[in-house]
Amino acid sequence: MVVEVAIDPKVERLRQQVPAVLGTGYLNAGTNGPLPLVARDAMAEAFGRELEIGRIVPGVYEGGFARNRAVAATAAGMFGADPDEIALSHSTGEGMSAVLMDLRWEAGDEVVTTNLEHPCLLNPLALLAHRFGVVTRMADVGTGGGDVLGAIAAAIGPRTRMIALSHVMWSTGAVVPLAEIAALAREHRLFLLVDGAQSAGQIPIDLHRLGVDAYAMPGQKWLCGPEATGFLYVRRDRFADVAPTFLRYATFDTSGYLIPNPTAARYEIGEFFGPAIETQQAALTWLRDEVGLEWAYARIAELGRRCHAGLSRVPHLIVLTPPDRMAGLVNLSTPLMRPQELVAALFARGLTIRYVDSRPCPVTARVATGWWNTEEEIDRLVAAVGEILDDAARAGEG
Ligand SMILES: Cc1ncc(COP(=O)(O)O)c(C=O)c1O
Repeated sequence: MVVEVAIDPKVERLRQQVPAVLGTGYLNAGTNGPLPLVARDAMAEAFGRELEIGRIVPGVYEGGFARNRAVAATAAGMFGADPDEIALSHSTGEGMSAVLMDLRWEAGDEVVTTNLEHPCLLNPLALLAHRFGVVTRMADVGTGGGDVLGAIAAAIGPRTRMIALSHVMWSTGAVVPLAEIAALAREHRLFLLVDGAQSAGQIPIDLHRLGVDAYAMPGQKWLCGPEATGFLYVRRDRFADVAPTFLRYATFDTSGYLIPNPTAARYEIGEFFGPAIETQQAALTWLRDEVGLEWAYARIAELGRRCHAGLSRVPHLIVLTPPDRMAGLVNLSTPLMRPQELVAALFARGLTIRYVDSRPCPVTARVATGWWNTEEEIDRLVAAVGEILDDAARAGEG
């Protein structure tokens, strides 16, 4: 039964600024977040300017560099870093690969990771194994609700040089105790690389306080920016260890002596689409100033808990997400159907979630609660999952 809950006026007002969430119950920021109207306006304005004034007229080139640094500064402010420690990227995967390829490896070096990671980390690790003989040690952390720190500590050996893992697990929704893992990394003098694909914009992040070495983030998920945007944080005192591999104009200064750019812009790869960067800036500023980051984080987690509690009561459903270590992701499986089928059945009822299917991670259907969701949508989702599984169970009996 779906009980009617009044919509918070702030939620109602903000939802009007995010058209995609009005059409369906949009519960998929874990893949791509919805775009706000300010993103459309910024894109139209920037693209229109290029169209009408020309793309490179005097001042535009220099302005582009300042524009890129400005969005890096906005991100730095949101995530507790110095602007100079933030590079723009085109995706989380690009940031992860850049750091992994920019370090100097020797055969037999080890990277400790977990059994819940995304291919954006596992693929470059496989390449490092193939190319340099780097060994991956996979700590089995289960679904991420138990002694994650202990499992990681137990996997560290004398040849370990790095811990690399996600802050929020895409495959179970578990939020790992990152500050403790960073302390462990420091104790063993290891580099800590973090995949922040599911954390940036979903949970509070204070990079300096966490004490991580490098942290890769996407712009298109919980930060509601366009695709092909993202950030890579590298802590300043790690610049000497991370030597840029993929070079562009801004990698070095203009002296011709291979002197690296003094900022993390040295880690930027390829060129950036100016209107996308301006759109990202508009989306971030809107999230920070109009939505409010603390409010958004609290609401995402509250709706996540509501969703977890409701779905935990649905027969035939396994909720993999550890309830005491979660925020807005809730990962599900059922013996009655494949996650893809559950996703399709929910979409037919006006609810958008998605499945994640990449070994060694568990194959699941994943709900991502956004601050834009209403309590009614969460309850409707819970009821719909219950009905779909009831029907499937009856069909199985018949
Ligand atoms: C944990 C994790 N890492 C990396 C990615 C890939 O992100 P991007 O498309 O920004 O490279 C995703 C998203 O799908 C993810 O969930």
